[in-house]
Amino acid sequence: MSEKFRPKFHFAPRAGWMNDPNGMIRVDGAYHLFFQHDPDSTLHGPMHWGHARSTDLVNWEELPVALYPTELGTCFSGSAIETGNGELKLFYTAHQRHGDRDFQTQCLVHADRALTTFASEPGNPVVANPGIECFRDPKVIWHAGTARWIMAVTQGQSIGFYSSTDLIDWTFESAFGETEGRHSDGPWECPDLVAMRAPDGFEHWILLVGIGSGAYGHGSGGQYFLGQFDGHRFVNANTPETELWLDYGRDSYAAQTFFDRMGAAPVSIAWASNWTYARATPTQAFRGVMSLPKEMHLVETGQGLRLAQRVPASVKQAFAALAGPTGTYRQDIAVNLAVGQQTNIALFSEQAPHFIVQRISGASATIRTIRAGVTGMPDFAHDYAVDLAYPAEGPLALELYVDRGLVELGSSDGLVWITNLFFPEHPAGEVAIVTREETENA
Ligand code: FRU
Repeated sequence: MSEKFRPKFHFAPRAGWMNDPNGMIRVDGAYHLFFQHDPDSTLHGPMHWGHARSTDLVNWEELPVALYPTELGTCFSGSAIETGNGELKLFYTAHQRHGDRDFQTQCLVHADRALTTFASEPGNPVVANPGIECFRDPKVIWHAGTARWIMAVTQGQSIGFYSSTDLIDWTFESAFGETEGRHSDGPWECPDLVAMRAPDGFEHWILLVGIGSGAYGHGSGGQYFLGQFDGHRFVNANTPETELWLDYGRDSYAAQTFFDRMGAAPVSIAWASNWTYARATPTQAFRGVMSLPKEMHLVETGQGLRLAQRVPASVKQAFAALAGPTGTYRQDIAVNLAVGQQTNIALFSEQAPHFIVQRISGASATIRTIRAGVTGMPDFAHDYAVDLAYPAEGPLALELYVDRGLVELGSSDGLVWITNLFFPEHPAGEVAIVTREETENA
């Protein structure tokens, strides 16, 4: 029963609670994924860093817990780096609760090359709290232009940038975002800062920012900003009102990319859940699952440069090699629609569709994403639409991944992803795809 929703190709811990991906790093041919973890409970308790490793982004081996709470606090989210000397370091937020207030500082951990031993820096915390309650989730990167380390860190409604040459002494540079993009009551969380090449060869910077509530699909979600980062400040290339989403579903949060000294294209993984109901999902031994990894790249669109994501070839192949109704499959769907027609996609052998693709005009379509309620999960049900372009020629290509109830639907060459959890009666049920006139309703 407890394993009914255990995914095959998405990482989920053996037991206990999991939220954000942490300390993602590729080193010596292995991908290391750490994660927010309470090994002793399926609720968000004292945070540890769990640890898993993969060589192909498909099969994950869970390793012993890496970071345990210390007298400095429990271990909130953070990142990992490899120095020019081949040393591995982790950065995390030490979290303390004082009455009804949080107290957070940034800490450094020295690891061996195999990431099996972890030694706290004696000078911790390396970044003291500057008087900001929500001060967390350090993401450290190497900035080649200024030959310094940069730490992007949550500072309430903005992201702060610090710089360092030795990873111990950090200097505040600037903050970004107070008046940009989407905000809500909670802080911005889990930043990531990634340099990428656009198709024209120029370098652009992506700033990923989690917003715990009030995202596109209601509740938690990941937005991104595109711009320039000169080692001191991030300058948004779009207007402050522009909102860009990494994923339009309700179960894609706190995405991070692997640190990769070899400079491969950035690969992201998100936590496939939503703080709105994450503590109530009906699994038993474990609670929390990661998204599929996605390779990120930039594409030029009618609206300007945008971030697109594709599933790595190794993951696609693993899905393709599976046979039989196991509840884990991938499917390409070519949607051919005249204006006014719709294609219904019903999953898990259920009658009612979970996605309805409609062609609105010659050049535009929408995907309605529909989810029924689940007992004990207030606010789980939804019905909302995502706009996308209908291609000038040929069908609208959709790419569907289903893994024991976790669904990732990609479209528009990876510009649009919709990641949603379902807890169906029959996770191994079949998908039915039907095209019809729009007059009939879902
Ligand atoms: C995001 C988050 C982070 C924090 C962690 C605690 O989901 O709230 O900001 O570090 O989870 O588990």
